[in-house]
Amino acid sequence: MATETNKFQAIISHCKEYGFIFPSSEIYDGLAAVYDYGQWGSELKKNIREYWWKSMTQLQDNIVGIDAAIFMHPTTWKASGHVDNFNDPMIDNKDSKKRYRVDHLIEGYAEKLKADGNTQKADELIAAMEALQSADDFAGLKKLIEEYKISCAVSGTCNWTDVRQFNLMFATEFGSTASSEDGDNKVYLRPETAQGIFVNFLNVQKTGRMKIPFGIAQVGKAFRNEIVARQFIFRMREFEQMEMQFFVRPGTEGEWYEYWKETRMKWHLSLGIPKEHYRFHDHVKLAHYAKAACDIEYEFPIGFKEVEGIHSRGDFDLSQHQQYSKKKMQYFDSETNQNYIPYVIETSIGLDRTVMMVLSEAYVEEDLSTPEKQDSRVVLKFPAKLAPIKLAILPLTKKDGLPEIGRSIMEECRSRFRCFYEEKDAIGKRYRRMDALGTPFCITIDHQTKEDNTVTIRYRDSMKQERIAINQIREIVENHIS
Ligand code: GAP
Repeated sequence: MATETNKFQAIISHCKEYGFIFPSSEIYDGLAAVYDYGQWGSELKKNIREYWWKSMTQLQDNIVGIDAAIFMHPTTWKASGHVDNFNDPMIDNKDSKKRYRVDHLIEGYAEKLKADGNTQKADELIAAMEALQSADDFAGLKKLIEEYKISCAVSGTCNWTDVRQFNLMFATEFGSTASSEDGDNKVYLRPETAQGIFVNFLNVQKTGRMKIPFGIAQVGKAFRNEIVARQFIFRMREFEQMEMQFFVRPGTEGEWYEYWKETRMKWHLSLGIPKEHYRFHDHVKLAHYAKAACDIEYEFPIGFKEVEGIHSRGDFDLSQHQQYSKKKMQYFDSETNQNYIPYVIETSIGLDRTVMMVLSEAYVEEDLSTPEKQDSRVVLKFPAKLAPIKLAILPLTKKDGLPEIGRSIMEECRSRFRCFYEEKDAIGKRYRRMDALGTPFCITIDHQTKEDNTVTIRYRDSMKQERIAINQIREIVENHIS
């Protein structure tokens, strides 16, 4: 049985063994902090993406979705502030040459203090760090590391360089001509999807005749050259974001910020995750664009960590784009008869982090031992709507016409939801494999099926089995996944 501390490792191994997530280009020993989704991971990820998309567009009166390109005009990133400000303070250990993100180094030490019972000291350390961060006091951060004698995990020494800023954007060359000296072929891989929304604000507002307040949503890849990239799909260099920018009348941003905090938390709870596993964390050190910001944190096996950010961005982005592009970014409000640049509330959630959260919540190791027999199972208790496979169709034997019945059930159901057909191996083994993939329903076709058109349905979480008519199968599954 995995303890909380090694549950994270157990999930990583499980993901690899059962076709959820593989290290990228693994035959070449992988690429740090880049991962590929396998056959079941990509289904899970797609289901989460679609669930978010539907709840943030289709089920809203005033939010539409777009799909902007990853490459954007380089000036976008000058205007957005990412060229000048999208930095992480880093520090190197001179003996091991290992580089650390300053906040990770300090937070790691605070965790250690807490584990040793020094909660007050840990809290003081974090408060001091946050104060120095918000003042951009890098010398102070170094002093703090030295004061607490925080050492490198590799060399064990406190021989640190100064704290330096490191820009997280990936750059590449555009077109076939050699790069000019002033670097005007340089383009960036977008570090957030949000800017694709901002630069299309007027296109969407005008063509969609959108009236404020309204939102634009987008799902897509983002890229960050994370220095300390570890913790599986929690911190990746290529990842997917699901973002929504909500444009509001200036002066109303406070109430919309609260509205979206609450609405997004409700969405999280609708995943069947109990509220004790979530908490809000208000930012002290605000990103360069933010006027107020908080994170929704989930309690991963590695502790409470950010899954989603909710940011009150003011008119920072649209004003910057207006200034740099010299194109008006104003909206005419027919109710107030005024032109203004709208304010923005952003909800920004990482798709991969949500996959990690759903996996962490679903992964259970159950001891099923009886006095007669030792037994256990690993089961992924996904909400049925997110499960990669909804229904497994399992003929008890490979003969006597049972596979034919199974195939006909498969034909009836496969256009409605993802089914999986399997006739190999003992039934108990097949059930366990489906538990490990998180399949909420298995049906078994046996000899009685031929007599009375009934099958056994087995429920993943309770392992309860009951006899149902073949013509009830589709309805039962659809009721659970709708
Ligand atoms: N547009 C605002 C923005 O990008 P952020 O807090 O930097 O804000 C939003 O990122 C979300 O994107 C995070 O809450 C996280 O879920 C996800 N995210 C950010 N960096 C990530 C990374 N390196 N790997 C995986 N997910 C990441």
